[in-house]
Amino acid sequence: MKTYRLAPSLLSADFTELGSQIDLLKSLGVRALHCDIMDGDFVPSISFGMPVLKSIRKRTDLYLDAHLMVTEPDRYIDAFVEAGADGITVHAEACRHLDRTVQHIKACGKKAAVALNPATSLVAVEDILPELDMVLIMSVNPGFGGQSYIPYCTDKIRRLRALADQKHPELSIQVDGGVNRKTLAEVLAAGADDIVAGSAVFGGNIAENVAFFRDAFRQA
Ligand code: DX5
Ligand code: ZN
Repeated sequence: MKTYRLAPSLLSADFTELGSQIDLLKSLGVRALHCDIMDGDFVPSISFGMPVLKSIRKRTDLYLDAHLMVTEPDRYIDAFVEAGADGITVHAEACRHLDRTVQHIKACGKKAAVALNPATSLVAVEDILPELDMVLIMSVNPGFGGQSYIPYCTDKIRRLRALADQKHPELSIQVDGGVNRKTLAEVLAAGADDIVAGSAVFGGNIAENVAFFRDAFRQA
């Protein structure tokens, strides 16, 4: 049976209540936290960095999924490993030598993932697929929470699932951006198993929102 995972994006959390919101998510059965790291260069916005991730690590044993939306992420991989990330995602568009970067993450003993912006073709990861734990399909242009899902990404998820079934069936497919009550079913049907959601988890009642995702995973 396929297992699904919800990774709430902390970008939409209330940063003044971060610790208690993380504890709440854990009590609701959430297993992973998605940490959006933005440098104001690769993406227009700036979010948070190593010190915040380190504090989160002290607070929780949940899986910390670091999504590095930064230029030349190689410069920061060791620092995020030291801060306590369990998995590191780099953007294909930001890496000059993607294979080297992926091997570096794996040599640190961490899960390695590559993210693709909406307009970046799957060709960018096709050859390296067997080396990866996960591919992140961005379904919005990265930089901000609360944007609308880009419909053409559904077909991209479907094509990646087919490619992975041939080359690397254990590959996890993560989808990030605009996944909510309206778009979740379509994303799951296309073959995603790892769902990032920010506004759809933290907007309104967190417990009810997490329950919605859990029920949808059960029915998928
Ligand atoms: C966008 C980030 C996402 C974002 C998702 O650049 O990578 O993780 O926080 O937020 P929602 O779920 O609100 O689209
Ligand atoms: Zn993200």
